[in-house]
Amino acid sequence: MNFEFHNPTQLVFGAGTLSRLGDVVSKHGKRALLVTGGGSVKRNGTFDRAIASLQAAGVSVVECSGIEPNPRISSVVRGAETARSEGCDVVIALGGGSTMDAAKVMAAAVFYQWDPWEMMAHGREKQGRPTRALPIVTVPTLAATGSEMNCGAVITNEETVEKSFVMADCLYPAVALVDPELTLSVPPEQTAFGVCDLITHVTESYFNGVDGTPLQDRFAEGVILTAMEWGPRAVADGDDLEARAQVQWASVVALNGWVQVGTDFTAPVHMIEHTLSAHHDVAHGAGLAVVNPAWMRFAAKARPARFAQFAQRVFGVPLKSADYLGCALEGVDRFEEFLRSIGCPIRLSQLGIGDAMLSRYARDTLRVAHDKEGLLPGRPPMNGEEIVEVLRSAL
Ligand code: NZQ
Ligand code: ZN
Repeated sequence: MNFEFHNPTQLVFGAGTLSRLGDVVSKHGKRALLVTGGGSVKRNGTFDRAIASLQAAGVSVVECSGIEPNPRISSVVRGAETARSEGCDVVIALGGGSTMDAAKVMAAAVFYQWDPWEMMAHGREKQGRPTRALPIVTVPTLAATGSEMNCGAVITNEETVEKSFVMADCLYPAVALVDPELTLSVPPEQTAFGVCDLITHVTESYFNGVDGTPLQDRFAEGVILTAMEWGPRAVADGDDLEARAQVQWASVVALNGWVQVGTDFTAPVHMIEHTLSAHHDVAHGAGLAVVNPAWMRFAAKARPARFAQFAQRVFGVPLKSADYLGCALEGVDRFEEFLRSIGCPIRLSQLGIGDAMLSRYARDTLRVAHDKEGLLPGRPPMNGEEIVEVLRSAL
């Protein structure tokens, strides 16, 4: 292990903390671009409460609503133009991962001289990472992505049908204000997708990180076990605030860097899922529920002992006669069954995806993410045929 770690985001966590939004924001700016999604925050009263808190603290608000799931670069451009023309000095994201990601890139686009799509990685030699952004305050209304406390953002280019990402220091939010009460209205299906997403964030580093990170293994297993204990409760009873809080805390920790530190990980499952989202606009967590178990069955053949460790520690699968692969595959079956039991899809057909474009998905995934040999980074690295094989096994 050899690493540096830095996460400057201040975390304010707890039921009822939305009332502190105005105070929190006023330390960073006086005129806020308030970014929201398709309307859930207006329907459930969160928007009005946020406005009241901001007004009481003397923060004026310019609205940027209508950020779509799998947010588009055109929405980012729209929001950045509004922030610029209205003289905003702080950006607030009030919504799910899509709203937060779009808001983060808007905050940087305000200072960016080029097309904001240039910020994204999408497989190019040179990426125009941003270096400056307006201060960002994230207020997640959905427990899933961890975007509230990390420096990443995932954006779709609707013209090129690409979904890509940017990670840059200036995208760390100044503050993440995480109020589990705001997630009480998330429907069961979307709650389950969030649970799947947060678990997948830690399985990516667990299975695709460097060897010799026993403490990070335990962190990851802790996140998974916590999500598996509290996730089903949040799905079964959306009003269970304790379950909502535990799931949301797990989702923050799953991708704020603590679990991944020193693992130098890659995220092949995410890269494949992003292609499916780009083409079919599927919910990110739903796509992951289909791709992750299929990928695990593929990757377990290359590292059976690693996957057997997961099976043993997370699901208590016994290792019999040193049959690591058997133990590993039993663990994957149980993981898939967990996802199914909380209401996630586990086959591509449930997402309305057939076999007509499997090669195209593989090609597009490799276009966005590849190593020097042209393979999808991961353990093992994958070529196009292997990506097709994984997707075919999930039909
Ligand atoms: O748009 P509104 O009306 O708000 O409705 C949303 C949306 O329809 C709804 N929702 C959110 N909060 C709600 C609610 N409905 C009722 N009550 C509430 N309190 O949920 C739907 C999905 O929202 P979305 O923001 O798209 O979901 P999620 O948080 O799962 O975000 C997914 C996006 O984040 C990216 C994904 O690729 C995808 O684009 N990711 C971002 C990451 C990051 N920045 O670190 C990492 C992730 O791996 C992921 O890739
Ligand atoms: Zn994810």
